[in-house]
Amino acid sequence: MIRAAIDADAPGIVALIAACWAEYPGCVMDDAEVPELRALGTHYAAKGGRAWVAERDGAIVGLVGVAPLNAGAWEIGKMYVSSGARGTGLAQALLATAEDHARAGCAAELRLWSDTRFTRAHRFYEAASYVSAGPIRALHDVSNSIEFAYAKPVAGCVVRRLDAAGAASAERRLAAILKACVDGGASVSYLPPLDIEVARGFARKTASGVALGGRVLLVAWLDGVLVGSVQLDLATPPNQPHRTELQKLLVLPHVRRRGVARALMLAADAEAVNEGRTLMTLDTRADDAAEPLYRSLGWIEAGRIPGYALNPDGTAHATVLFYRLV
Ligand SMILES: CC(C)(COP(=O)(O)OP(=O)(O)OC[C@H]1O[C@@H](n2cnc3c(N)ncnc32)[C@H](O)[C@@H]1OP(=O)(O)O)[C@@H](O)C(=O)NCCC(=O)NCCS
Repeated sequence: MIRAAIDADAPGIVALIAACWAEYPGCVMDDAEVPELRALGTHYAAKGGRAWVAERDGAIVGLVGVAPLNAGAWEIGKMYVSSGARGTGLAQALLATAEDHARAGCAAELRLWSDTRFTRAHRFYEAASYVSAGPIRALHDVSNSIEFAYAKPVAGCVVRRLDAAGAASAERRLAAILKACVDGGASVSYLPPLDIEVARGFARKTASGVALGGRVLLVAWLDGVLVGSVQLDLATPPNQPHRTELQKLLVLPHVRRRGVARALMLAADAEAVNEGRTLMTLDTRADDAAEPLYRSLGWIEAGRIPGYALNPDGTAHATVLFYRLV
């Protein structure tokens, strides 16, 4: 049962957090360092936010809080689930409760901090579409805590360029998006069924390209879910420093025709300009949904090559080459 936290929950909350921290080396509970735990409901209410606990058989087995930070941004905190209640969907339910509350308070963005040791939590936040955002911080506490910053936009369709850390943290989401598109019949270098490990290899290579400065990665969130991406290859030959190739425009099948790809393409134009590129090129399977999209955005057809790539059924299909001056 998920309910609002009350101050009388303090002993159960301290026990839950202490048990979670004890799973990690050097991470120890000193409740003098976190006095807010003695009255967490009051603490969050004073900040204009709220905290919830999950109770099972009279014990506190889950916790989350959320409060506004500044105009538009809210911060998720105190996200803990006891080891016995993990893998049950409770953590997702708690996080969704906090996210819904922030959205109802007109949050545009959610942020959170996570100890660098909490690798399981990182995967959880990444699965919930958060990406690494900004530098780490040190708490100067008895646990010598160092924390990663995570964030995601939660309202409407938002496109952002990810840096190398952001791209690495989006690896699993990007792999899932590529797999959903390829398995749904998209012609983007791979054939279905796409092995998720191969998809993760693609996402890792993308992050590495971003880290090396040879690639721009843009991702799109729709109402807080990371649903699409597009890339610009900057590693063009020495005689083409003014050109960039747009690659891997991908949008999850169930959110198509809602303007996500259009938003990604407009952001890609801006990033090409930002990178000093004046000529953009791409290729796409003839007759795909992407073809009218590119035409509607002013891309010019340079020609088509028959039998360029294979369809999932083994037949060959034509590819259309497009370019655009920005
Ligand atoms: C191509 C793709 C990225 C489009 O994503 P999307 O988010 O659905 O596109 P948008 O909603 O932004 O569409 C913008 C415009 O593109 C055109 N368009 C998009 N899908 C279309 C379709 N199935 N049929 C006709 N036009 C389409 C329309 O002009 C649309 O505007 P409208 O909805 O106002 O009519 C998506 O279908 C996809 O991921 N396909 C698989 C991967 C792929 O083929 N990528 C291209 C590689 S080159």
